[in-house]
Amino acid sequence: MFYKIAQKFLFQTNPEFAHNFAITSLRCTAGTPLAMFYSQKLPAAPVECMGLTFPNPVGLAAGMDKDGESIDAFVAMGFGHIEVGTVTPRPQPGNDKPRAFRLRPAKAIINRMGFNNLGVDNLVKNIKNSNRGDAIIGVNIGKNKTTPLEEGKNDYLFCMDKVYEVADYIAVNISSPNTPGLRSLQYGEMLDDLLSALKERQSKLAEQYNRYVPIALKIAPDLSDDELKQICDALVKFKFDGVIATNTTLDREAVKHLPEHAEAGGLSGAPLTQRATEVIAKTAEYLDGALPIIGVGGIGSGQDAMDKLDAGAKIVQIYTGFIYEGPELIKSITEDFLKRK
Ligand SMILES: Cc1cc2nc3c(=O)[nH]c(=O)nc-3n(C[C@H](O)[C@H](O)[C@H](O)COP(=O)(O)O)c2cc1C
Repeated sequence: MFYKIAQKFLFQTNPEFAHNFAITSLRCTAGTPLAMFYSQKLPAAPVECMGLTFPNPVGLAAGMDKDGESIDAFVAMGFGHIEVGTVTPRPQPGNDKPRAFRLRPAKAIINRMGFNNLGVDNLVKNIKNSNRGDAIIGVNIGKNKTTPLEEGKNDYLFCMDKVYEVADYIAVNISSPNTPGLRSLQYGEMLDDLLSALKERQSKLAEQYNRYVPIALKIAPDLSDDELKQICDALVKFKFDGVIATNTTLDREAVKHLPEHAEAGGLSGAPLTQRATEVIAKTAEYLDGALPIIGVGGIGSGQDAMDKLDAGAKIVQIYTGFIYEGPELIKSITEDFLKRK
């Protein structure tokens, strides 16, 4: 109810202003009496995934709280996990504005933010200062725009070293369409090289901290079946802990009737629902249970989330659906999940 009123106001403003306003308001109100407007107590619905116990199957997808500023508020809303980031070694401003567009009739967003963030040290500090309760904190890591692609691996390793101590799991983002060349890390030798380096570093850090932090790879929805198969084979070969499917799409077929379709960037929300579910189903087939799938892309209802689970996902994440539906969506997914148990 409260969200619908807040949304009326927020949707009058441009998407980036609305986003910043919401994140700042959440940061300032978390832990105060005003938090009652968005707090909700959800029934326990624990799920095991990547060796961790998630309090429920619904997570906040990466990109909403890039700098981990409002973790406490998202925990209060009932998210079972919060994936902060994408964070890069050094702070960077991202692409020129405007860089986010609402496609309201399609319940969709196009964004070309370009990993705007305040850098990994700031994120680590914010996570340390948060009260996560039993919620799981994933940290999504990326590379700086100015780092040449051939040196990209070093940015991921740098971030991994920094966040290992505070993360429950680490998500490796090589699927954003908004950092030039990034998606080429999804293929062939570059992928093998990255995955093996990350796994090697993970075992060193696990020994150093006496704690194993799982790592998951976040993939694009725009891969051919062959490309997806190759990625899955590499994930199994290098014993990755999980895969997050999917990021935003470059495909505009479903929104070509809307003027904003021509904006560059990644499309998310309802037009992505079906494609993301197909990718999850294919990924499940190729992985054959070797590692778990975190399903994301166009979830706007409990049923959409159940479809992702039916396709082979263990848990789910929401971003655009959360903007359009509010915290109520976390509740309906959790309730539908409990009903089918
Ligand atoms: C404005 C915006 C910013 C995003 N930023 C990131 C990001 O920094 N890192 C990332 O891995 N995904 C990012 N995403 C992708 C989401 O995490 C998610 O994978 C995608 O939007 C599909 O889910 P949805 O349809 O529920 O939004 C972003 C999405 C949006 C809409």
